[in-house]
Amino acid sequence: MTEVKNAVASGRESLKKRMQSILVLHGYGETAYHLPVSFALTGIDVRDRASSQDAYLRASNNPIIAAECLLSEKTGREGKEPSPYTGFIGDTVLRKLGYSLVDGSILGLALVIGTPANEGSAAGICRELQEKYMLTFLAGGVVPALQQSGVKLGLEYRLIPLGSTGAHGVHFTDIIARVAMMFGGVTPGDTARFLKYAAERAKAIVIVFPGLTDEEIAVVDAMRVLGFPIISLGDYRGEGWVEAPPEHAVRQGMEAKGIRVTVTAIPIPMGCSPAFEGKSIRKEEMYVEFGSGRSTAFELLTMRNVGEIQDGQVTVIGPEIDAMKEGSANPLGIIVEVAGRSMKKDYEPVLERRIHNFVNYGEGSWHVAQRDLIWVRISKEAVAKGVKITHIGKLLASKFRMDFPQLLDAVSVTLITDEKKVLAARKDAETVYEERDARIKGMRDEDVDTYYSCTLCQTFAPNHVCVITPERPALCGAISWLDGKIAYEISPAGANQPVKKGTLLNARNGEFDGVNRFVKKASHGEIDRCSLYSVMEYPMTCCGCFECVALMLPEVNGIMVVNREFKGVTPSGMTFSTLAGTIGGGAQTPGFAGISKNYILSDRFLQGDGGIERLVWIPSALKEELKDRLQKKLIGQGHPGLFEKIADETLATTIEELTAFLERAKHPSLTMKPLV
Ligand code: SF4
Ligand code: NI
Repeated sequence: MTEVKNAVASGRESLKKRMQSILVLHGYGETAYHLPVSFALTGIDVRDRASSQDAYLRASNNPIIAAECLLSEKTGREGKEPSPYTGFIGDTVLRKLGYSLVDGSILGLALVIGTPANEGSAAGICRELQEKYMLTFLAGGVVPALQQSGVKLGLEYRLIPLGSTGAHGVHFTDIIARVAMMFGGVTPGDTARFLKYAAERAKAIVIVFPGLTDEEIAVVDAMRVLGFPIISLGDYRGEGWVEAPPEHAVRQGMEAKGIRVTVTAIPIPMGCSPAFEGKSIRKEEMYVEFGSGRSTAFELLTMRNVGEIQDGQVTVIGPEIDAMKEGSANPLGIIVEVAGRSMKKDYEPVLERRIHNFVNYGEGSWHVAQRDLIWVRISKEAVAKGVKITHIGKLLASKFRMDFPQLLDAVSVTLITDEKKVLAARKDAETVYEERDARIKGMRDEDVDTYYSCTLCQTFAPNHVCVITPERPALCGAISWLDGKIAYEISPAGANQPVKKGTLLNARNGEFDGVNRFVKKASHGEIDRCSLYSVMEYPMTCCGCFECVALMLPEVNGIMVVNREFKGVTPSGMTFSTLAGTIGGGAQTPGFAGISKNYILSDRFLQGDGGIERLVWIPSALKEELKDRLQKKLIGQGHPGLFEKIADETLATTIEELTAFLERAKHPSLTMKPLV
C-alpha cells in the first residue's frame, strides 16, 4: 500500500530536477496545439528549453506540464512509438473522436494506467468500459497484460494503447486539452476556463493499477485538478483517490463523474457495443455468411399495429447455425416488425437502415449493404462461444427498443433461413422497396431549399458525408431525401441533418455554397467542395456502401456504371470489388463516384458531365432491372434508341471491344466534348 501523499512529493521533486536539465524539445506529431496541456494552461507555445521553463513556472510546477515536456524530449529522440503503441494522437483523429463524443456514441473517456497484478482483471475492466460506451486509453503494463489475455487493441475497438510507460498517460490529458480548445471554445492560456471545462464538460475518469513510479503518481494526482476521479485498485491510498475493487472500478468511476449509462447488456453470448462496429470479419475468420451474391438474403423493417406483435419475440424459420456447414453461404431473411403509438409508416426505411449498425455492434457479427443486397457474416469465434442465428434476432430486438424508446413499444424479429421461404418473403419485400421508391418520385431538387446529410457511415469512413436530395438518393440506395427529413424529425441530433442549399455556384454540376460549407464541416475539414451531379469535378465522397460505382472511361469519352452484384471484370479492367477498394473510405476521387441504382433514373444523373448520353456501359442484369423505366426516361428526354447503344458485358468486356461497339452503334459520347 503506497501513501499517495509521500509519492507525490517525491515525484514532484524528481520531475522538477529533470525539468532543470531538459535540453532539446521536439514537438509532438500532427497537431496545431504545440504541447497541448502546456498550451491550454499557460498559452505558451513550448518549443525549446526556455519556453518549457516559462510554462512550467507559470503553471506552478504542474507535474503534467513537466511530464509533457519530458515526454516530448524523448519522443523526438526515440522517434515513433513501437507497435502496438500509438504515442501522441494527432489532431485529425481527435476531431473524429470529438464528433463521436458529441453524438453520444461515446459516453466518456477513460485512462487505464499501471500494471495489473493479474491479467484477467484488466481484461474485465476494459470489456466493461467497451460495453458502457467509453473510449479507453491505456498506458503502461496494462497493455501487455491485455495482449496476453487476447484482448484486441486499437481505435476500432475503442482501446487505445498510448505507450509502454505510465508517463504516456499524459497523452490522455493532452487529448482533453485539445478537445477543450477545439470544441469547447477555450482560449489557450485561459487557465480558469480550461479547468472549468475539464471539470464540468470532460467526461473523463482514471483507473489506476499498481506499479507506477513516484513521478507517474505525481502526474496522475495532478489530474485531480482537471476534475477526473482517480480510482485506485487498492494499491494506492490517499486524499482524493477512491479505492475500489476491480469489479466496481468502472461503475464507481462513471458514477463519480456523473456519466449516466443508458446501455444495458443484451443477454447473448457475444459482446455488443459500438466499440465493435468498425471491425470486419475476414473470410478465414467467418463461420457462415449470407448474401452478397453467394446466397439469397434481404432485410425488411415493417410497422404493425400496437398489440399485433409481441415485444422481444424472436423466431427462426429454417435451420439454425449448427445445421450449417462451416464456411458456407446460406439464405437469410431478416424481418423486423415494430409497433408504437408514435411510429409512422414513413419511418420504416430509416429504422431499417439501423439494422446495418446494430448487427455490426455484435462482436462476432458483421453486416454490409442494405435491402436485398445485404451481406452478413458470423465469426468462428462467436459460434464457438455459442452464438446462434436467434441471437442476431435478440440483438436487433433489444437494440431497437433501447435506441428508440419514445418511438417503439414492441419489436419482434423473424429470421428466415429456409431457402424457399426466403425467396417468397423477398418478393414481398421487393414490393415494399418499390412502393418506398415511388413515394419520392416527381419531387425536384429545385422544389426544396434544404437537403439532408447522412454521416452514419463515418464509423467506417470517418470523413464521409452523403448529401441527399430529392433527385439524388444516397449512394447506398437505402435513404431518400424524405427518409433524411424523417430521420431528422425522429432524432434531431442524429446522423441526418438539414443542409441549407445556400447560393447556387454552378448549376450544371449542382454546386451550392451552403452544401460546400456543410460538407467541409462534416468531413472535419477534409473536403472543400462537393458537386451533387458530377463524377468528374468534386464528386461526393464514398464510404463502402454504394450500390454502384460510376467511373469515367477516358478512352471512349464516356462513363460506365457497375453494380455490386456484378462479379465479372468491367471494361475498365477492374471488378466491382477492386473498384470499391480503390474509392471507398470517405475520399473524394474525381472520375469516380459511388451511386445508387435509382440515381441512374434521375434527370440529374451525370448532368455535370454531359447527361445520360455519357453512359456507355452497364452490366446486363442491371440494364434488365432498369429496362422499362430507363427506356421510358430516355424517350422522354428525347433519346430514343440510346438504350440499345449502351453496352453491357455481352457486347463488350474490354476497352477495345467497347470502343468498337460504341463506334458501330454511333454512341453520342464519342462526339461529345472531351471528358478530360
Ligand atoms: Fe448514410 Fe450514406 Fe452511409 Fe447510406 S451510405 S447509410 S446515406 S452515410
Ligand atoms: Ni457506408
